[in-house]
Amino acid sequence: MKTISEIRKDFPILAEKVHNKPLVYLDNGATSQKPKIVIDAISEYYTTYNSNIHRGVHHLSQVATTAYEDARKKIQSFINAKHAHEVIFTKGTTDGINLVANCLGRSYINSGDEVIISAMEHHSNIVPWQMMCEERGAILKVIPINKAGELIYESFLELLSEKTKIVAITHISNTLGTINPIKKIIKDAHQAGAQVLIDAAQSVPHTPLDVIDLDCDYLVTSGHKMFGPSGIGFLYGKESILDALPPYQGGGDMIKEVSFEKTTYNSLPHKLEAGTPNISGGIALGFAIDYINEIGYDFIQKQEKDLLDYATQELSKIEGYIPIGTAKHKASVISFLMEGTHPFDIGTIIDQLGIAVRTGHHCTQPLMRFYDIPGTIRASFAFYNTKEEIDTLVNGVKRAVRMLS
Ligand code: ALA
Repeated sequence: MKTISEIRKDFPILAEKVHNKPLVYLDNGATSQKPKIVIDAISEYYTTYNSNIHRGVHHLSQVATTAYEDARKKIQSFINAKHAHEVIFTKGTTDGINLVANCLGRSYINSGDEVIISAMEHHSNIVPWQMMCEERGAILKVIPINKAGELIYESFLELLSEKTKIVAITHISNTLGTINPIKKIIKDAHQAGAQVLIDAAQSVPHTPLDVIDLDCDYLVTSGHKMFGPSGIGFLYGKESILDALPPYQGGGDMIKEVSFEKTTYNSLPHKLEAGTPNISGGIALGFAIDYINEIGYDFIQKQEKDLLDYATQELSKIEGYIPIGTAKHKASVISFLMEGTHPFDIGTIIDQLGIAVRTGHHCTQPLMRFYDIPGTIRASFAFYNTKEEIDTLVNGVKRAVRMLS
C-alpha cells in the first residue's frame, strides 16, 4: 500500500507553488487533481494512436476504438452495471442530466405530471428539470431540508404520488457535504411508480457505487471530479429505460440507416452518443478508475473521515466560526462563514498563502437563500490531502480574520 507522500507524488500539481507558497489544494469539490497515469494516457493517445473511433478499418482507428470501449467496460465494472451499453459517455454531470430531462420530457412527461428534486440541488439538477417542466406543463416539487442540511424525509413521502414521474436527487451535496439516504429514496420512489436519477458528481470520488444494489434508474457523474479529465463523464441507465428513450442529439454514430425520407437509430450506447466524442477523455477516465481501484475506497474513506473530523475540530476552535451544513452523515466537505467577514475576502486573503478553497454560492443559489447568506467558504478534501494542509488552512483563516477585523 502506498503512503500519503507516495500518493502525493503521483499528482504532479501537488508539488507546485502558488504565490511562492506550496499549493494547499482544498477545492476538490470543484475539481479533483489528476494523477500522472491520467495525464500520460491523454498524451499517449495524441502521440501514438490519435484516430477516430467506430469508423475506420485502419489500425489506429481500431486501437483507439478498443481503448475507448475498454474504458466503458472499466466504468461498467466500477459501478457494477449489468451491461457495458448501459454506460453512456457524456460531457459530464450537467450533460447527463440534460440528456435525461430532454429525452424523458419528449417521451414520457405530460401536462400535470410531477418531478421531484431537493432544496440542496446544484443548479445543474434544478434548471434542466425546470426547463423541461415549463415545456411540458409539468410541475417541479422540492423536498425541503432542515437547518442541519438534511432532507425532511416525511415531506418527501408526502410529495410522492402517482403523478411523480421522476425523482432527481444528489447523493452528496456539493455545498453542505450531506450524504442523502439514496437507497431508501430509490425504494420509496419506485413504490410510488417514479423513476430515480442520482447525481453522483460529488459521491464517486469518495464512495463506492453499485447501481444494481441501489436499483437506480439513472446515475450521472463527471470525470473531472474523480481524478479524470474535464469534458467527459457518464450516464448510467437501466437497459430497458435507456432503450425506451428517444435519441438526444442527431448526427454521426447514433444512426443505423439514413435516408431523406426516414432515419433509423443505432442500438445502445451509440443511440445516445451522437458525433465524435471526447476520445482521449474517455480513455483517460478509464485510467482514473484504475487509479481509484489501486488506492481503494477503504483507504480513501478512512483518510477523508480523518481529515473531515480534524478540520471540523480545528476550525470550530476559531472564534466566530459558523458552520453551514452539519448533517449527521457528511462527506469531506466543510462550508463555513467567519462572523463579520465576507467569504470572498477570506478566500482572497488565504489564496495569497497558496490555499485554494471555493467561495460563493457554489451553484446552489436556492440553498443560499434558505440559509439567508451570500455564500460560504468551502474546503473540500480528497484522500491526498493532509492534516498539515488543514493546519495551514486554519492558520490562514485566523490570519484573514485578524486582517479583516
Ligand atoms: N459543482 C462544482 C462545485 O461544487 C463546480 O464547485
